[in-house]
Amino acid sequence: MAEHALHRHVVLAGFMGSGKTTLGRDVARRLGRSFLDADKVIEERTGRKIAEIFATDGEAAFRELETRTIRSLLDSRSNTVIALGGGAVVQPATREALREAFVVHVPVDVGVAWTRVRNSDRPLARDEAMFRQLFAERAPLYAEVADAHADDVDGVILAAAGIHHEEGALDKLGDLVHGSGPVVVVTDENVWPHYVDRVTASLGDRLVHAYVLEPGEASKSHQVLDRLWNALRIDRGGTIVAIGGGCVTDVAGFVAATYLRGVSWVSVPTSLVGQVDAAIGGKTAIDIAGGKNLIGSFHWPSRVVIDEGALATLPERERRQGEAELVKTEILANRTLGVRGAAAYKAGICLQDPFDHGPRRWLNLGHTFAHALEAAAGFELTHGDAVALGLLAALRISGRDTKVVEERLNPQPVSVDIDRAFEALLRDKKSLGGAINLVLLGPDGPIVEPRPAELVRAELARLIA
Ligand SMILES: NC(=O)c1ccc[n+]([C@@H]2O[C@H](COP(=O)([O-])OP(=O)(O)OC[C@H]3O[C@@H](n4cnc5c(N)ncnc54)[C@H](O)[C@@H]3O)[C@@H](O)[C@H]2O)c1
Repeated sequence: MAEHALHRHVVLAGFMGSGKTTLGRDVARRLGRSFLDADKVIEERTGRKIAEIFATDGEAAFRELETRTIRSLLDSRSNTVIALGGGAVVQPATREALREAFVVHVPVDVGVAWTRVRNSDRPLARDEAMFRQLFAERAPLYAEVADAHADDVDGVILAAAGIHHEEGALDKLGDLVHGSGPVVVVTDENVWPHYVDRVTASLGDRLVHAYVLEPGEASKSHQVLDRLWNALRIDRGGTIVAIGGGCVTDVAGFVAATYLRGVSWVSVPTSLVGQVDAAIGGKTAIDIAGGKNLIGSFHWPSRVVIDEGALATLPERERRQGEAELVKTEILANRTLGVRGAAAYKAGICLQDPFDHGPRRWLNLGHTFAHALEAAAGFELTHGDAVALGLLAALRISGRDTKVVEERLNPQPVSVDIDRAFEALLRDKKSLGGAINLVLLGPDGPIVEPRPAELVRAELARLIA
């Protein structure tokens, strides 16, 4: 079974009338991939309608042609999103070929499907009793090929990124951690007491040991890495399960990336920052004296388990940190998202740009200003409060209303030295010919564009008390 679709085609399979084509087109747009409708490709290549091929050549001949076509689509080197015809899974050869892809089954109620297709020209949708029988026959075949099940765009994208979002999922870790190999948990002293019983019960005999770290940034250090590397007793069949906020998932992910040249890891974010941001996209890191997150690696988790129920024990102050990233994501997406939608938004961008060469930079909206203020303020300013201020500046330079940031995050100007803050900003973002590249909002969405250094400095000054 495929764990995610980072390097694979996303294939949508499901009964006729499940909406695969519309869904596939939207998913492809969000992932920056091309969309292929297998039935359409057959019609284009043969110059004949599916109904006509069925009527003249018969179903068996059509299925042969369909298998060949799907195989050729799966052979394409660039990753795409493919919607299959409803009956494609009937052919064993097609099911075999699909093993190479990430297959999402799009479920549909049989009655709903019937009302959608009964007046179409689909050859197998002429009689309701036959339609219902076919539905029952095919259900196990969809189950056989499916790596995941989803019936909306965010759901498909979450699945494609390996993200499982479900209230109460913490109790299902035993099933959600792939395979049956040993598991070590990495967590922190604040989180573990809340969840030790549930996690232990869920992982059962698979749980070898839990490493409980000091909470916060202090654990993103080479000393903690060294301790974990030396303490770990798993082989490459084992999995590291990180349960905690962004600090825990960052350091545990980096241990997973480096131990035995890379072992599988599962990220279980318990903070809002983690659920909408840090645990998603495969960036792992530790800090060094020279700066935060300077040592790290891209190591995509085999699964991310988001249980919003875990936020119940998160202190309000920490929730506020995540709220800033959530508002940032909603501004980028230009709609209300909540945790599930924000996780899907980030996942879509990271699947599109796993190594941070393109659209992933959009996620830094407001962060150029935030980092500068944080550097000048030392530890007095939290990252979330700095991001809230940074968003104000990004929105103002983009000529946008700042109401959403003011209402949701209530940012307060911070007392720091403007020269120090601007110096930090220039260290972070080199000024090229008197201009500084910023993530901004253009008419059609996020853009990265240069703005004059004087303007950037003036906007930075407005954030300072
Ligand atoms: N890898 C990435 O893509 C990425 C993205 C954004 C941020 N980050 C990193 O994430 C870190 C910040 O993440 P964070 O804010 O989650 O920090 P964190 O891990 O320090 O968690 C914040 C605090 O909340 C506590 N906590 C977490 N979940 C809890 C729960 N359910 N109940 C009770 N207490 C809980 C933690 O013990 C900690 O004290 C930074 O180091 C940042 O660099 C990484």
